[in-house]
Amino acid sequence: MPVLGAVGERFAAAPGLAGLRIAACLHLTAETAVFARVLRAGGARVALCAANPLSTQDEVVAALLAEGEVEVSAARGEPRAAYAAHLARLASSAPQVMIDDGAELIVCAHEQGATAGLIGAVENTSPGLVRLRAMAADGALRCAILAVNEALTERIFNDRYGTGQSTLDGVLRATNILLAGRTVVVLGYGFAGRGVARRAQGAGAVVVVCEVDPLRALEARMDGFAVMPALAAAALGDVFITVSGAPSVLRGEHFELMRDRAVLANAGHFDVEIDLPALAAAAVDPPREVLPLVDEYVLADGRRLHLLAKGRVVNLAAAAGHPAEVMDTSFALQALAVEHLARAGGSLEAGVHPLAVELDREVARLKLASLGIEIDELDERQQRYVRSFR
Ligand code: ADE
Repeated sequence: MPVLGAVGERFAAAPGLAGLRIAACLHLTAETAVFARVLRAGGARVALCAANPLSTQDEVVAALLAEGEVEVSAARGEPRAAYAAHLARLASSAPQVMIDDGAELIVCAHEQGATAGLIGAVENTSPGLVRLRAMAADGALRCAILAVNEALTERIFNDRYGTGQSTLDGVLRATNILLAGRTVVVLGYGFAGRGVARRAQGAGAVVVVCEVDPLRALEARMDGFAVMPALAAAALGDVFITVSGAPSVLRGEHFELMRDRAVLANAGHFDVEIDLPALAAAAVDPPREVLPLVDEYVLADGRRLHLLAKGRVVNLAAAAGHPAEVMDTSFALQALAVEHLARAGGSLEAGVHPLAVELDREVARLKLASLGIEIDELDERQQRYVRSFR
């Protein structure tokens, strides 16, 4: 992770985060551990809990605990109550900066009235930002949020290429099916959906996109995909991948039409996109685990639907999440966002703020340098031209 490493070297040389109390609710992977070490190198005190009990890598937690440099409370597959207790404890531990994947920690701190000493928070997911903007509109948001997820490097690396590749990795690791020649239905055509659709197409699948936004739907069509309502796609798909951020995009009426052995996977942050109660209600028996992380639901007419990773985010639950190259830029950006908050020292207004484009550019510059890629610069005459209006 050379980009994060470069930020870490700068932090270690001049620990600008000295004494800063950071609470982070993230997927507990090896890459997250590297990020936590970089924050420590900047002088911060770091406490971690899991953004999803199924994404926790226990060996990473054990390594961090053995090192004793950061506080960690998480275990893979922990029951919801234990997961919620860890979240609640972290939210009430008087952090000055929060780092969140899904806004769970930030919302929990607000519910507990524990926001007094909070300088600000960093949110890394688009559903998390939807929640926080809803709180801001209600006048309930009490701190500044930096919208890291909306930075361009995030959209490129994290959403398009990271989610694009690792989602298919999760589907393939769980099922070992051949994608070539199969019909893959992608529900949602944001940056992540675009990545999933493109990777599936590259693997030889026939790709159908379902999207509620007319601009995105049009883009999907112009990108070469079939576009149709989910009800029409339901009868065609061999593999369904939800990546929309909305609840119940696959529900009873769709299950009724699906082919025998259709595979259902969710790549959205929350496990709400496939209507799990409706799936259970449509089945004649409780599901049977036919392969690790593949639950088979048998419907009344004998058709079998295969749900992956219990509808949880499939790239992390059935695979290892984004590759390190992706988390490299993502965590470098988050580290710069934390530094920005620390420097602002609570002067940013409560509300959701875009991340300064200079930070995004800095990450892109470091990434290009790590790849050994040089680019041109405009000379003075060119700069004058593009800045003037005549
Ligand atoms: N989110 C997606 N992939 C991840 C990874 N490898 N580590 C941390 N968070 C992630």
